[in-house]
Amino acid sequence: MSKTLLLIGATSDIGHATAGAYTAQGWSVLLTARNPEGAERNRADLAARSGGAVSLHALDVTDTDGFEGFISGLPALPDTVVCVVGEMGEQERAQNDMAHASMVMRTNFEGPALLLGLLAEKFEARGSGAIVGVSSVAGDRGRGSNYVYGAAKAGLTAFLSGLRNRLSQTGVRVVTVKPGFVRTRMTAGMKLPPLLTAEPQEVGEAIFKAAEGSRARDVIYVRPIWRLVMLVIKSIPEPVFKKLRL
Ligand SMILES: NC(=O)c1ccc[n+]([C@@H]2O[C@H](COP(=O)([O-])OP(=O)(O)OC[C@H]3O[C@@H](n4cnc5c(N)ncnc54)[C@H](OP(=O)(O)O)[C@@H]3O)[C@@H](O)[C@H]2O)c1
Repeated sequence: MSKTLLLIGATSDIGHATAGAYTAQGWSVLLTARNPEGAERNRADLAARSGGAVSLHALDVTDTDGFEGFISGLPALPDTVVCVVGEMGEQERAQNDMAHASMVMRTNFEGPALLLGLLAEKFEARGSGAIVGVSSVAGDRGRGSNYVYGAAKAGLTAFLSGLRNRLSQTGVRVVTVKPGFVRTRMTAGMKLPPLLTAEPQEVGEAIFKAAEGSRARDVIYVRPIWRLVMLVIKSIPEPVFKKLRL
């Protein structure tokens, strides 16, 4: 029997590459998208490349009332869940438009945290599974240019840290992914430094290794240099940091 991945965010470039890393190893995949028609091309591509089953399910992560029904409607409890859903939003707009700020917070934090938390209960009862949340280095320290998105990712990072701490003796693995810059639809048009920028496939392969490899990984920076970059950024004293334009 092949193992099953639940991939939340099938239209994401990182999500598609991650699902590809799993199907390449013979896994079956349950994909979700808030607009399933928009994800059909990705589903068909994965199905054509893999021997396992690839199905598509509707899920909007801001519809938290629907989470219990969504999980009980799945054909089976997956072995691993990876949530890549996210929305960068626009910082300036979020400063004046509370609905926009709320959407960014709910999409990056509330929805993924509540959904992964619910699945964690079920994985814990079973005594196995891997839970992967895609967070961001933006959550490591708030910056003027994107602190609404960063705060939401910081919330997700803290949630996953607590979940990992609580489940450490249960056979359930919890992995936090901080991709750094990745060349995707989200960053289209941005000038990205090549050394700090990963391709979606790199992220997918790093997630598979961290979640399914023999050596447990808790928090991964896809390009290891990001760990150093963020160590430096986090160590800048606040009186200096607040004067920087970041
Ligand atoms: N690209 C980067 O440089 C980078 C860096 C650090 C972290 N990340 C994180 O990596 C993850 C994937 O990002 P990406 O670069 O692959 O960007 P992306 O292609 O824009 O993917 C974002 C995904 O989130 C989905 N989504 C947004 N709101 C949703 C909702 N309410 N319900 C369900 N799905 C929803 C989108 O679906 P629709 O197609 O329906 O909009 C899409 O599948 C995100 O969490 C992002 O924050 C990205």
